Amino acid sequence: MKRMILALVCAAMMMPMNAKTLVAYFSATGTTKAAAEKLAKQHDARLWEIEPAEKYTAEDLDWRNPKSRSSIEMNDPEERPMIKQCTDITPYDTIYIGFPIWWGICPRIINSWLDNMEIMLGDKPIIPFATSGSSGIEEAEAYLKKNYPSLNWQKGLLLNKR
Ligand SMILES: Cc1cc2nc3c(=O)[nH]c(=O)nc-3n(C[C@H](O)[C@H](O)[C@H](O)COP(=O)(O)O)c2cc1C
Repeated sequence: MKRMILALVCAAMMMPMNAKTLVAYFSATGTTKAAAEKLAKQHDARLWEIEPAEKYTAEDLDWRNPKSRSSIEMNDPEERPMIKQCTDITPYDTIYIGFPIWWGICPRIINSWLDNMEIMLGDKPIIPFATSGSSGIEEAEAYLKKNYPSLNWQKGLLLNKR
């Protein structure tokens, strides 16, 4: 009996210790980065920045210009901007994935990341989070679920400052 209680106590103690969380994010101008840092602190999680091989300039981010890099990328669903470095997600049980809302959904670099990670993500719970000018995260959530139906999507978080 004593042994059984000890085993149960150990199991209960092990659970939170083993639960490892990763907060991965892309941020072009720093807003999502700040939200990701806060989230990582709250969840005692490892932080990982998804960096584009080629950084976005202010010109690249001009959504009013149909010829800007971001407009060209968002106009083409197949665009997959290159990522600087791979992420090792194997040690993590839960993954937060953060991004700024672009054209109502996630920037294409998030597709690049998910395409690379899809198999490794398996059935790990994934929580999308975003910052935006005013849009909600619902359209991005629906887009992600539709395009990556095998992944274990959880309810998303919009982390705009109030
Ligand atoms: C190309 C581009 C498209 C955007 N599209 C939207 C949008 O559809 N809805 C919205 O509310 N904000 C939009 N924004 C604003 C960003 O989502 C917002 O400023 C975000 O917090 C920026 O995050 P970051 O600093 O981490 O890059 C857009 C910004 C850019 C650069």
